[in-house]
Amino acid sequence: MRAQSDESHPDLRAALEHLLAAGGKRIRPTLGLLVGTIFGAPLEKLITLGAAVELLHTATLVHDDLIDGALLRRGMPTLNARWSPPATVLTGDFLFARAAKLAAETDHLPLMKLFSETLAVIVNGELTQMFTSRGLISRDNYINRIYAKTASLFEMTSRAATMVSPANEATVESMRNFGYQIGMAFQIVDDILDFTGNQASVGKPLGSDLLNGLVTLPAIYYAEANPDDPDILSLPTGGWTNQEHMARLVEKIRESSCTHKAMLEAERHVDEALACLESIDTCVERDALENLARYIVDRKV
Ligand code: IPE
Ligand code: IPE
Ligand code: MG
Ligand code: MG
Repeated sequence: MRAQSDESHPDLRAALEHLLAAGGKRIRPTLGLLVGTIFGAPLEKLITLGAAVELLHTATLVHDDLIDGALLRRGMPTLNARWSPPATVLTGDFLFARAAKLAAETDHLPLMKLFSETLAVIVNGELTQMFTSRGLISRDNYINRIYAKTASLFEMTSRAATMVSPANEATVESMRNFGYQIGMAFQIVDDILDFTGNQASVGKPLGSDLLNGLVTLPAIYYAEANPDDPDILSLPTGGWTNQEHMARLVEKIRESSCTHKAMLEAERHVDEALACLESIDTCVERDALENLARYIVDRKV
């Protein structure tokens, strides 16, 4: 990943260094490495795939933080906190370009197609969210949205890591589903952490989804249980722009059982994911994948 900014402008190199130094959980490359290793994929291809996926993820975060006006990511100032919007957009573009180059370096045409299709799904999802979802949304809408913005990349990673191994079609499909299920759980938990997390450990602004007009699963459950709540009723007509009212609504949701109910939904996805691993012979990588799936719902970060 670091090598991708060699020979580029010093500011770009510094930006990539800043982004990589902040770390992040690196959960997507971990997923690819574990899945691919189980099925005997060449390590070299898995590393290239992992770097491609993580750079793609990083690029989406650079743009996401600019769009959301978020100033903190991975406990560090975001690029948009320090740089102009144009410089931030261009840095994100550079990362997308490098991610695509890495994907091409796997020398696997179906993987490259899948990679670009996934990027299209993510961007289409973000645009759909931007144009349609301010205010209240249905559960179905929520499911589509979190698939596009998050689960699609987990799904792609797990599927691609299996595709570059000698595994058969049924195995590729089963591991695609594994990635899908943990990806769905991952975003539901991210959305719960926005209500219940500790900002210092999560390292990004919390309590901010509603303020950005983003209604997530805990809020959907709350709206279903409290249809007459004035703050809920205000959402479709722009109530989400009122800081004071949204802080009050966040508090009410936090005190309700709705975040717990959302956690049960995330756990349901993790159970589905664990079922995909049942037919795999016991090995350290399988154990690690089980732990990874469980970590997704236990995490505080
Ligand atoms: C953040 O992803 C964006 C979402 C899809 C929720 P991560 O929580 O994986 O971010 P890092 O890479 O660990 O910082
Ligand atoms: C971002 O999702 C996912 C992307 C595809 C960029 P969120 O908006 O929930 O991510 P955070 O909470 O800012 O990390
Ligand atoms: Mg965001
Ligand atoms: Mg979030």
